Amino acid sequence: MAKSSEAVDLARWRAETPGCAARVHLNNAGASLMPAVVKDAITGFLGRESLEGGYEAADAAAVEVAQVYAAIAALVGARPRNIAIVTSATHAFAQALSAFDFAAGDAILTTNADYVSNQLMYLALARRQGVRVVRAPDAPEGGVDVDAFAGLLARERPRLAAVTWIPTNSGMIQPAEELGRHCREAGVPFLLDACQAVGQLPIDVGALQCDYLTTTARKFLRGPRGIGFLVASDAALARGDAPLLLDMRGARWTEADTYALVADARRFEQWEFPYALVMGLGAAARYALEVGVPRAAQRAHALAAHARARISVLPGVRSLDRGAQLSAIATFAVEGRSGRDLMLALRGQGINTSAQSRGDALIDLDRKGVDSLLRVSPHYFNTEDEVETAARALDRLLA
Ligand SMILES: Cc1ncc(COP(=O)(O)O)c(C=O)c1O
Repeated sequence: MAKSSEAVDLARWRAETPGCAARVHLNNAGASLMPAVVKDAITGFLGRESLEGGYEAADAAAVEVAQVYAAIAALVGARPRNIAIVTSATHAFAQALSAFDFAAGDAILTTNADYVSNQLMYLALARRQGVRVVRAPDAPEGGVDVDAFAGLLARERPRLAAVTWIPTNSGMIQPAEELGRHCREAGVPFLLDACQAVGQLPIDVGALQCDYLTTTARKFLRGPRGIGFLVASDAALARGDAPLLLDMRGARWTEADTYALVADARRFEQWEFPYALVMGLGAAARYALEVGVPRAAQRAHALAAHARARISVLPGVRSLDRGAQLSAIATFAVEGRSGRDLMLALRGQGINTSAQSRGDALIDLDRKGVDSLLRVSPHYFNTEDEVETAARALDRLLA
């Protein structure tokens, strides 16, 4: 019997991902497996640098670099001028945050589920500049309470609203479009951490109405480590937003005491640029576009739902995911066992998952009454059999 087109595509995606052969990789929320084309783009460019010289290879690659910006822009519904390539999601977020001149008493409106490093940045701004950190409460079903968020926008008049779309530590998806709409109506700039969303959810920055969107390459986008990007809206660029500490890529030194910002989002970049990783990022963006993000999302979410159903019935295991819409991240608490020990035991059997502890997501874990969790995060190239293998291995470990 002829194979279905889904089976043909799955076989191709897996053949194009050499890491699939040796391991069951269910840690795409940590770092996914790169397709071979991504690795080849990186090593190919390193080869060129080693033969031609780093600066010379970069000059010769100007067209390819422009194509990377175009591919990223296509992935998120922006234009190349809106994209800044930086070293990580955290760096992207810090660059965006630093564009705001916070005064003592200014509020940053956020949620209980924002990423740990983002929370630390808010707290650092509170300590150094007297910013108030206001966290919107959760809805009873999990995820931020949208009406309460809208109420706080009106009451607190925050200088900025900053939200993590898909938290790293729980399977929930925040209603980013609704939050963006409320921010736009209230005239409050909106910074969206899309680190776990890029490659996992279809993205249209216009519909999200965000001023900034930040991400890494290495997670559901399947790019390399050590690189990420920022999307700055036309409105943010037109306002003259810029990072607090500029670099010569972001501005021109015009006279001894003056400078001019570059017109596009590259004002958020730094001159020193990991061109090989940039090529890898471009290859990953093109690969995601070819696979089709809506299709990737549908498969990844179905596999995570399967993992939740299969693993939460094991003895002593509790699924921790709550929310109106769930992501490709499935999280579990296991009675009497640390997430990290279980992760290491599974890794010893060739199964990649990840673990988190209290300090990674303090508010959420305290509310759920757990001090660690095991995270299983499939992507579209994974199979039901792989989820089954992980569930059986966990069952044996718990026996
Ligand atoms: C939601 C979220 N935001 C930000 C980050 C930070 O990404 P990076 O390590 O690239 O700075 C992560 C990493 O896990 C994340 O899950």
